[in-house]
Amino acid sequence: MFFKLEGKVTIITGAASGIGEATARLFAQNGAFVVIADIQDEFGVQVVASIGPHKSSYRHCDVRVEKHVQETIAFAIEKYGTLDIMHSNAGIMGSGPHPYTTSKHALVGLVRSAASELGKHGIRVNCVSPSGLATGLVSASGVKNMDKSAIEALATALANLKGIVLKANHVAEAVLFLASDESVYVSGHNLAVDGGVSVVNTAMTMMKR
Ligand SMILES: NC(=O)c1ccc[n+]([C@@H]2O[C@H](COP(=O)([O-])OP(=O)(O)OC[C@H]3O[C@@H](n4cnc5c(N)ncnc54)[C@H](O)[C@@H]3O)[C@@H](O)[C@H]2O)c1
Repeated sequence: MFFKLEGKVTIITGAASGIGEATARLFAQNGAFVVIADIQDEFGVQVVASIGPHKSSYRHCDVRVEKHVQETIAFAIEKYGTLDIMHSNAGIMGSGPHPYTTSKHALVGLVRSAASELGKHGIRVNCVSPSGLATGLVSASGVKNMDKSAIEALATALANLKGIVLKANHVAEAVLFLASDESVYVSGHNLAVDGGVSVVNTAMTMMKR
């Protein structure tokens, strides 16, 4: 059997739940060693127990604290001998002065400039932009008093692509592609996992001009 990330050492921030957890599981299934870096210690330890401690480890890491991030990187290198993939997934949904769309555009700009800077070191930098899906983050933020199925029904109603509900694993598959050698010459790319909704919105904006 072919494993896309055989022996690759990976840190995934925010991997104790949601998209990060799904990505950690998929990476481990594809042969990677995964360091789960999160602030929800209990959930993080549970994810490691279910993936298997021979394939994964948990580190308490608040990505807002530079020292935590440095210590997590040092831990991965100490334990596994190297660091191949860094997946910065941890995040919260903005409802205040920095809503998600604003930070998303800033992030895409950052990814492009990081890709241009790091390319000379052979490092690829990419971004995955999903549309809305029912995770703890969505339930805990602006979508008040809605359970998972209600959030999924809302997302489906707003979706461009009908007949499928976006799940964390769909996003994880896109991350796996960008992390693997199957995308070996892809860098500075923003991969939208949104059923075409961003394309539709752009097209509609152009039609209104
Ligand atoms: N769910 C969506 O609809 C959606 C859409 C677009 C983008 N995203 C992005 O996807 C990423 C994952 O979100 P999710 O939906 O899986 O949410 P989630 O709440 O299920 O998972 C987020 C994880 O990040 C962790 N986390 C939060 N703050 C942290 C910090 N400071 N340091 C370390 N870990 C921290 C949480 O403990 C949690 O385990 C986020 O960056 C989010 O902005 C989500």
